[in-house]
This record gives sequence, C-alpha cells and structure tokens, in this order.
Amino acid sequence: MHLKGKRILLGVTGSIAAYKAAHLTRLLVKEGAEVQIIMSTSALDFITPLTLATLSKNPVYHNFFDAKNGSWTNHVELGLWADLFLIAPISANTLAKLANGLCDNLLAATYLSARCPVMIAPAMDLDMYQHPSVRENLKKVVSYGNIILDAESGELASGLSGQGRLMEPENILDQVITHFKSDKSFAGKRVLITSGPTQEAIDPVRFISNHSSGKMGAAIADAFASSGAEVHVVLGHGAKKPKHHGVIIYPVKSANEMYMEAAKIHNEMDICVFAAAVADYAPKDVALEKIKKEGDGMTIDLVKNIDIAYTLGKEKKFHQIHVGFALETENEVFHAKQKLEKKNFDLIVLNSMREKGAGFQLDTNKVSLFFEDGSSLQSEIMPKEEIAKLILEGIKKLPVKI
Ligand code: CTP
Repeated sequence: MHLKGKRILLGVTGSIAAYKAAHLTRLLVKEGAEVQIIMSTSALDFITPLTLATLSKNPVYHNFFDAKNGSWTNHVELGLWADLFLIAPISANTLAKLANGLCDNLLAATYLSARCPVMIAPAMDLDMYQHPSVRENLKKVVSYGNIILDAESGELASGLSGQGRLMEPENILDQVITHFKSDKSFAGKRVLITSGPTQEAIDPVRFISNHSSGKMGAAIADAFASSGAEVHVVLGHGAKKPKHHGVIIYPVKSANEMYMEAAKIHNEMDICVFAAAVADYAPKDVALEKIKKEGDGMTIDLVKNIDIAYTLGKEKKFHQIHVGFALETENEVFHAKQKLEKKNFDLIVLNSMREKGAGFQLDTNKVSLFFEDGSSLQSEIMPKEEIAKLILEGIKKLPVKI
C-alpha cells in the first residue's frame, strides 16, 4: 500500500473520460489513500455521484449548498484537508477557469483555496488540446506550480486519433505514487542554472558557438524541480529544454544576454549552477549586413566576453551556493581546482574528456566533483540524469549556510 494515510481530493469534470474516474478511485483506495471527490456540474452528465461515493466510501460533493441536508460545503476545508488535489479528467472548460481564477462551482472554488500540490490530467479532443488558448492555459497553471499529467495518444471519443486521451488510470496512479515518494529536499529553494551553448554573432547569418547540447543542464534542472525547488534556467539557443513543466526558462543567445538574464535574478537565488558552455570571446564588431566573400582569407577580431560565473561569484552572498563546471584536456584536476577558487565556487564538476561515454552531446557522462574543503568524489559513466542526482547529493553535503 503505497498511499497509506494520504488524503487525495479527486476532482472530476465533464468529459467522456469521466467514467475512468471510477477505476482511478478504486486504484487510489486500494493503495490505502483516503479519497474525497468533488464533481463539476457537467461531470454529473457522465457519471453518477453514487458510483463514486460507493467506490471512495465518502460522500461526493458538487454543490456549494446541499438543499437536502440544508448544509453548506466548505471548499476551504476540503482544500486544506487534502495532501494532493488531483483533477482527472480536467476538461478545457475547467482548465480555463483554473487558469483565470474563475470559481463558479465548488471544484473551481476549492482549487483557489487549496494549499496542497495540484495535479491535473487533461482529456479532450486532439484539436482542442492543441488549440493555442488551451496551450496558454496549461502554461498558466504550470506557472502556478501545478503538475500536468500530459494527455496520452490514441483513439478519441470523437472518432479521431491523436493526443487528448486521459492518461490511463494505472499511469496516473504511478505518477501519484512517485509524487509522494520523491525526495523534496530542495523544497523552498530557488535555483538558477545557466545551460547550453552561447552564440556570438559575426553577421546577421553567422555566429561562433560550440557543441554543448544542454543535456547536462536540463538533467540538473529536472532533478532540482523534482526535489521541490523553484528552478530558473537561462538557456542558450538550441539547447535541450528541461522536461519538468514547472521550470522557468529564459531563452538567450549571446554570453552577454545570458549574463544579463542571470544577473537580474541572481540575488534572489539560493543555489546557482553554471552549466553553460559560454564562448570566451565574441566578434568585436557585428557586421550589419552579410559579409561577402572577398580575398583568400579573412580575420575576425574577437574581444573577451564577460565571465558570468566569475562576475556573479564576486557578488555571492553568504547563504548562496555556487556550482561550476570545468572541461579540460590537460592537467584537468589542477585547472578544475584553480577555477573552483578563482570563480568562488563551493563545488566544481570536472567533465572527463578522456572517456568514450562522456562529454558533449552524449546522454552519458563521467565526472569528478571537487569541493571547496578539498574533498572530492568520482562517478562512473552514467546517464546524465544519474550524474545530475549525484551533483544534487554533492550539494546536500556542502556545509549548511545560514
Ligand atoms: N563560465 C561562465 N562564463 C564564461 C566562461 C565560463 O560562466 N564566460 C563558467 C562555465 O559555465 C563553467 C565555468 O565557468 O561553470 C568554467 O568554464 P570553462 O569554460 O571551463 O572555463 P574558462 O574560465 O572559460 O577557462 P578556459 O576556457 O580557459 O579553460
């Protein structure tokens, strides 16, 4: 029983998939969860409260006022009771209400007063699911910290086939179990990550860049977000985006833009991870027009870019943790330790360039962690997701700063 003692408030809205709420309720109860259910008014057209009340072993709510018993359903109490508010299925209509703060029914009012995490599992027709207004509303609720259980692909009630099916109840159950199991050691922490390559323009069509894929930065961002942190990623152009819906992305191109975005929020951050492969130099002048081919050779004058980690390292507050990366081809440990000190890092992650399964573009990596106190830690070749977890473990080992 993975959910013993967990209080789950299940919201059911008007969708053909509402019938699946019955099976979902059974699965949650079987795992030991205490389940209370709120239905939207239109959900009543698809499944009866009696079915859900019987399966959840609790009364089902759908009105603010219960005329039969002359009682008022307190949405604030329901919202405070729950450890998790799971809305499955959520229709486009209810999603729009949540995104915009409308509360013309008990379910939407409870959403506004709930303090617990909220998970929503959309179910709708494929074109509805892709409509810009629905995408915008999903983005909005993600920015409120809600967790989306993305619709699955397959045959839809309309007869069409595509993405829009409610996530299967078994998969929803897995997500709920993972949610309660996951380590939330970084809850309440704000994390800044620079990730990916920078692009330094030569002219309107050309730039200087590097092979960084942003995979390591994305894995670190996802690991922090899953551990409860509020994650801000300043992301170089074309770099891999984190999967976690809650991560806030600041897209940039040049090192200068990356610095400007990072500097704006640096002060409010608790942990900063400098995972970006920042170009050290940029063309002195950017040609306004495409440079024409003339002569047998050409020279581009370069000027030094700002060192983001070094500059922000000088402003590091006592409570802040800075983590850096190093990629070296010779004298690796010496250079990594030098950067640890020079850039005021608490921890530096040295990428190995000598191993087959480590480095740029790959899904695996092998790293060594060097701490400010002189200690170190080495990994095997592992998926970047595992390396990210190791880095988070390393950060947890750092002396607690008050
Ligand atoms: N870094 C940065 N801004 C730069 C250059 C580097 O923030 N302009 C950060 C990287 O994100 C990384 C660390 O500094 O966390 C080390 O980057 P690296 O390129 O290895 O070091 P450099 O200082 O550029 O030294 P060199 O290229 O000479 O090895």
